[in-house]
Order: sequence, then structure tokens, then C-alpha cells
Amino acid sequence: MGIEETTDYSASSQVESWTEVMLLYNSALREINTKLEILNDEFQHVHRYNPIEHIKSRLKSSESIVKKLKKNGYESTIENMVKYVNDIAGIRIICSFTSDIYRVAEIISNQNDIQVLKIKDYIKNPKPSGYRSYHMVISVPIFLSDRTINAKVEIQIRTVAMDFWASLEHKIHYKFEGNVPEELKLELVECSTMSADLDARMLSLNERINPLSEQYKRI
Ligand code: GTP
Ligand code: MG
Repeated sequence: MGIEETTDYSASSQVESWTEVMLLYNSALREINTKLEILNDEFQHVHRYNPIEHIKSRLKSSESIVKKLKKNGYESTIENMVKYVNDIAGIRIICSFTSDIYRVAEIISNQNDIQVLKIKDYIKNPKPSGYRSYHMVISVPIFLSDRTINAKVEIQIRTVAMDFWASLEHKIHYKFEGNVPEELKLELVECSTMSADLDARMLSLNERINPLSEQYKRI
């Protein structure tokens, strides 16, 4: 996408304790959640339409952070987790239509205080598993009493259909502890193609009824 990964190291030298780090990432989640709620309210007000169906957010557990660092060959230090784990703060945005995903991503990117560090478009380029979603790693400033620290947040933006697929695939993966039988894998890829087709048809239907509903409003 033409965006180089730039790691923001500013937080690692300024945050010392585990509690402080988690406080920081929790604040980042709240910042982004508020921004998204404002966007949705404004959209509802101006366009009578909500691009966001719902939002889920979570902080990564300490066990998962340690596991991820270990998997990537890093020691479990505060510095390493701030530098190398992009998804300590994670937000998932569920939209109705694929067009909403790109609209929401663009609006987020255009906010002055947000820096986009990384983009992965698994909608244009689905994973071999069939996974589709739009991923962004962004950095947001957290204004503390005596300093400002940038914190990273991983944002996953998906349609309802993409989310449905990803939840089931995740469950299957978990059930088979990663060794999913080949026939199930193939069926998952097929389901992913079908859900992409469904997304495209629903979008096209929506575009066809939109001018109509505008017309009705005027009567
Ligand atoms: P992780 O180490 O898993 O975070 O991967 P990464 O740093 O290469 O990032 P990537 O964008 O590939 O994936 C980040 C997140 O996307 C994962 O933690 C999952 O939540 C989700 N994800 C990625 N691939 C899949 C997939 O094949 N199936 C499902 N269900 N989710 C996926
Ligand atoms: Mg992850």
C-alpha cells in the first residue's frame, strides 16, 4: 500500500512498569473508541446512516503478550512489548458494506493526531486461509499530566460476513489446535469466496435501492 512500517519507539523509553503500560494502552483504546463514536454520530446526523454496525475492543492478556514475544524470539521486557507487539490494544470495527470499510479507514487516517504505521488489506489480497479484513496499525498520542506518549493500536475493519467467517475459522483452528483437516480448510476457503460474493451483491443491492429511498424521502 506504499506505507512503510515505522515503529514508534517513543513509548518504550518513557514507560517503566507493567501497570503504566496497560494504563497507557487502555487510554489509547478509549481515545479511539470515542473518535469512532463521534464519527458514527456525525454520520447519522448528516447522512442518516451509520457506517459502523458495532465496535469491539480488547487489551491483550499478559499471557498472550509473553507468548507472542517468545514466538518471535524476543525476551519478555516492557521495552520489547512496546516495540514489537502491535496489537496490545486491539479494536475491531464491524461495518455493513465493504465500501464503509474504506470510508472508515480513510476518515481515521485523515485525523491529524493519528499516525498510520502499517496497513494490510486482506480484502484486496485475502490470506490463503480465506481470511478477509482490513488491518491498520496506528499510533495515537496520550496526553498525560507531564508528557505525551504515543501508543499503538491495531484496528481490524470487517463486514458482518467477514466477521462471521473469521469467528468460525478461529473456532475451528482452536478446536484442531492448528492442525485443521484439509477438507475443512478447503471448505473454509470456499465459504470465504461465497461470503465475498455475498458482500459484493449486498453492496450492489444497496447501491440500487439508495437512489430509490432518496426519491421516497422527497415525496
Ligand atoms: P499475528 O502475529 O497473528 O498478530 O499476525 P501479524 O502480526 O502478521 O498480523 P496479521 O495482520 O496477519 O494478523 C493480525 C490478526 O488478524 C490476528 O491476530 C487475527 O486476529 C487476525 N487474523 C489474521 N489471519 C487470520 C486468519 O487466517 N483467520 C482468522 N480467524 N483471523 C486471522
Ligand atoms: Mg494478533
